[in-house]
Amino acid sequence: MHGAVLALFFGVSSALAAVYQNTENIVGAGFYNSFNFEAIPDPTAGRVNYVDQATATSTNLTFASGDKFVLRADDTTVLDPSSAGRNSVRLQSKNAYSTHVAVFDIAHMPQGCGTWPAVWETGGAWPYGGETDILEGVNDQGTDQSTLHTAPGCTMPDSRPETGLAEATSYGPAFNANGGGWYAMERTSDFIYVWFWARGDSSVPSDVAAGGSTVDTQFWGTPSAAFPDTSCDIGAFVAHNIIINLTFCGAWAGDASVYASSGCPSTCDDFVNNNPSAFSDAFFEFNAINVYT
Ligand SMILES: *[C@@H]1O[C@H](CO)[C@@H](O)[C@H](O)[C@H]1NC(C)=O
Ligand SMILES: *[C@@H]1O[C@H](CO)[C@@H](O)[C@H](O)[C@H]1NC(C)=O
Repeated sequence: MHGAVLALFFGVSSALAAVYQNTENIVGAGFYNSFNFEAIPDPTAGRVNYVDQATATSTNLTFASGDKFVLRADDTTVLDPSSAGRNSVRLQSKNAYSTHVAVFDIAHMPQGCGTWPAVWETGGAWPYGGETDILEGVNDQGTDQSTLHTAPGCTMPDSRPETGLAEATSYGPAFNANGGGWYAMERTSDFIYVWFWARGDSSVPSDVAAGGSTVDTQFWGTPSAAFPDTSCDIGAFVAHNIIINLTFCGAWAGDASVYASSGCPSTCDDFVNNNPSAFSDAFFEFNAINVYT
């Protein structure tokens, strides 16, 4: 009798293990409450000048309506090569999270030669505190790259529970033409999973599409990227902030061979300096970010 009660108790608690409650629903002007603007030099030497909140709002580099938040780069200024770079925005969440789910409902992401947009999480002294890149790429080269960075000694097994196949619609112009989609990550002390569903994908879970009060990740299917703790102490990662940034060129997008292989004109820095109108599509448009713990 006692044993049956215990079995029932443990059965119920493990079935509930993947259910998370919404703790932050970030929409429209809510982005200004949940994020700090970081006017810092880009550590990857990008052709970027990250501006503060007053500059971003007065020049419309960030814009909030009732149900949208837009974050863009300057698309009107020809740059002096000796300037810091093209004005853009880097946001860091005020809150930091350990075990959690974050769902990013994105209608549009920055596109164009020289762009290097990213949605990612990190914390503590890099790279030891861990870093998960959720959405990242350069020069419109799809598909999305979801990666994990941390200290030496953290390795990933060859065989992991992931599809490993980023869809063509997960990045850049194809993502935008399709109306965007949902990126989601789940972090526990045992694993980090990343999922992507394109807008209109019939397999998008109803709790993801609804952005509702709870999510249950056990029904989300095989993630596109999985980072288990088999030989990596994910439980030792510190709490992470969400970071959204848009830089240009720099160590990855501006690498001469990477830039050339993308079919983009001239050199990355020259292109960014001299073609402001090429950056009119270099913007994020968020419908919502929902955090569940
Ligand atoms: C600011 O940006 C938003 C979003 O792109 C746009 O709808 C709006 O017209 C812009 N406002 C001005 C004054 O340019
Ligand atoms: C964002 O900032 C991080 C470090 O702060 C940097 O490594 C990364 O290159 C930047 N990415 C973008 C897209 O700005």
